[in-house]
Amino acid sequence: MELNLLVLCYLIGSVTFIVGLKMLSNPASARNGNMVAAVGMLIAILGTIFLYEENGQKLGNYTWIFAALLIGTVAGTMMAKRVQMTAMPEMVSLFNGMGGACAALISVIEFRHLVHTSDAASIDQTSLLIIMLGLIIGTVSFAGSMIAWGKLNGSIKDFAFKGQHIINIVLLLMTLLLAGHNIINRPDQIEFFFYAVVVLALVYGIFFVLPIGGADMPVVISLLNSFTGVAAACGGFLYDNKVMLTGGILVGAAGTLLTILMCKAMNRSLQNVLIGSFGGGSTAGSAAQAGGGTYKEVTLSDAAVVMSYANKVMIVPGYGLAVAQAQHVCHELEKALEAKGVEVKYAIHPVAGRMPGHMNVLLAEADVSYEKLLEMELANEEFKNTDVVLILGANDVVNPAAKSDPSSPIYGMPILEVEEAKHVIVNKRSMKPGYAGIENQLFFQPKTSMLFGDAKKALQDLLAEVRNL
Ligand code: TAP
Repeated sequence: MELNLLVLCYLIGSVTFIVGLKMLSNPASARNGNMVAAVGMLIAILGTIFLYEENGQKLGNYTWIFAALLIGTVAGTMMAKRVQMTAMPEMVSLFNGMGGACAALISVIEFRHLVHTSDAASIDQTSLLIIMLGLIIGTVSFAGSMIAWGKLNGSIKDFAFKGQHIINIVLLLMTLLLAGHNIINRPDQIEFFFYAVVVLALVYGIFFVLPIGGADMPVVISLLNSFTGVAAACGGFLYDNKVMLTGGILVGAAGTLLTILMCKAMNRSLQNVLIGSFGGGSTAGSAAQAGGGTYKEVTLSDAAVVMSYANKVMIVPGYGLAVAQAQHVCHELEKALEAKGVEVKYAIHPVAGRMPGHMNVLLAEADVSYEKLLEMELANEEFKNTDVVLILGANDVVNPAAKSDPSSPIYGMPILEVEEAKHVIVNKRSMKPGYAGIENQLFFQPKTSMLFGDAKKALQDLLAEVRNL
């Protein structure tokens, strides 16, 4: 009866993971989707703690288990409450690293269990294979995520040297060969080599992420996230735990799909992300000096007039809006314009900002209605009927070079075709480039006017002007 109850807990857990994931695909249901999956996870965890039995024995160790749960819950809640929206990728990276470490520790424990409790002849090589897979993938994910975390919070700088990719390949091959050796030979004779695999996988994880351009980290984090999922699925396989297996496979698949989606939206191959050092500290910022022609500025009052007397205004949010934390005042401006009879919508590029769904989350935080957010394809259809496009801290996602300049690093990346609108107002602080480190010809077009300044301050001033009209 109890076993059936446990199976039921696992079934509920698995179903909620799938339902929760589905709900995450829509901003309106995403928050609830997260809750649904979290409740399912809680049921699966409590079920394991109280209902799981082996040889008629329950888990026990309740003080240790609940002390660890308490510490983890308090630390996780505090971090999640304090984190700035712009620091979200680095927190995801840290949490993902912890997941990888857990998966690797499961392999370590199960290996020791296998070596010290079974007799050599009865050792199952399939279990050993799964242990090795979980160990390598989990360790690489842990080490790589920690480096990604350090890079994103600025404590670790991009670091690459000539031939590094060759060294990485050699390291990976050594790790795999040694793991193969461990699977083929008797575990009681390979304990030393087992720990050598841990060290090699750690070094490989560090070297794998170190040379990747700092700004490419979100893609790498998504990839490492899928690694952690696969490593967790290995744990599920080892313990014959269906909910762990389902959860791991879902994370692995979702992470892989997200990685592919991000690469596609940037028109870059995964290989280019991993070895391209695109958008790294050395390139970003250097192209600002390149003369792109003359540009014109617009005053706050003129910008307010053009927008207030427009029929339709489309706001294009980008990374700068997130940095400036200007989403609330942006929503205020939207309401002030609507009060004057202007139709206001938002055009959302899939990789605007620095993480998937960055703009959706940001605008949702400011209570912007989901119906106002147009995905790129829809927005591109509407630009020709738009009077004013207001670009707020976005750059690459509106760069026409993606369509017209085959030599551009972003050539082929789908963009928001804002130049189809009648007027374009661009708010940013300077003429510096964005993430890709390249100049944007949009800023020099006759229909474009620049409104320089920090997005929050500029929007506050613009809002005051609009209200005064
Ligand atoms: P970016 O091209 O990075 O441009 C952001 C612009 O914001 C900069 O040109 C900057 O110009 C301006 N800015 C910065 N701080 C500001 C502030 N306080 N107030 C006003 N403006 C400010 O951003 P985007 O158009 O959103 O494009 C995103 C880029 O990130 C793409 O290249 C994309 O491929 C890449 N990327 C995205 C993701 C995901 S999943 N979203 C993942 C990895 C990479 P100033 O310095 O002159 O102010």
